[in-house]
Amino acid sequence: MHDDNWSGTALVVGTGGIGQAILERLQHRFPHLTLVTAGRQGEPRHQLQLDLESDSDLERLAPALQQIGPPLRLVFNCSGRLHGPGLQPEKRLTQLTRESLMEQFAINAFAPVLLAKAVEPLLERNRPFHFASLSARVGSITDNRSGGWYSYRAAKSAQNQLLKTLSIEWSRRWPNATVTLLHPGTTDTALSKPFQSFVPPEKLFSPERAADQLLTVLSRQTPMQSGSFLAWDGQLIDW
Ligand SMILES: NC(=O)c1ccc[n+]([C@@H]2O[C@H](COP(=O)([O-])OP(=O)(O)OC[C@H]3O[C@@H](n4cnc5c(N)ncnc54)[C@H](OP(=O)(O)O)[C@@H]3O)[C@@H](O)[C@H]2O)c1
Repeated sequence: MHDDNWSGTALVVGTGGIGQAILERLQHRFPHLTLVTAGRQGEPRHQLQLDLESDSDLERLAPALQQIGPPLRLVFNCSGRLHGPGLQPEKRLTQLTRESLMEQFAINAFAPVLLAKAVEPLLERNRPFHFASLSARVGSITDNRSGGWYSYRAAKSAQNQLLKTLSIEWSRRWPNATVTLLHPGTTDTALSKPFQSFVPPEKLFSPERAADQLLTVLSRQTPMQSGSFLAWDGQLIDW
């Protein structure tokens, strides 16, 4: 399928499992886009060096994108963290620490909205623009039936609130901008690897399938629907 009507620069931030697949599917489905990647490693893995937890990296982003040329059409934030050195999703309250809360909020809540702030100088009132960010269904407060994962859940809920708020401001200032929060479904990546034993095989998506589904959902979003929290199948998720 070709959605070849999008042109300009598309920035993919974080090329982990889903981000890499988003990049490949964008290349295939939107051949007129100029694709740019940004991440912590810098070149050669990423064209732009961007640690989302660094204010100076974020300040350098807009000038670097401007140098690349075509106007900004899409920013897709594919970064996030569930576990890492010294970081595990909590099963009970005694495992919760100030450090885990701060780390989860830094990357899963603060980073997406600070990324939006960093690219805002490149927006134009009359030009269509999509800002998409990967959230997670576990960030839905209504849908929280099983508990656990305090800091990751809360950080994703906070991301949802921050980007919903952004969508309201941008609908006034940049009426052609569309902000979308996306749940990819459980996808076979390093992030989900330690937790896959509870997932039936038919519910575990390959990164390619997840990316294709997300791009289908995203490409149907218009400024009228800005601020939506959507699953991989296009269903609205309760906040
Ligand atoms: N996989 C799933 O089942 C699933 C389900 C629901 C939601 N999600 C969400 O989908 C998103 C992508 O997940 P994934 O499965 O693709 O995970 P992944 O393979 O672990 O990729 C995460 C990416 O985030 C990047 N990142 C982390 N901290 C960063 C920072 N400070 N600055 C820049 N980049 C940073 C990582 O870069 P480095 O290589 O530098 O670490 C990596 O590229 C996450 O937000 C996750 O919460 C995933």
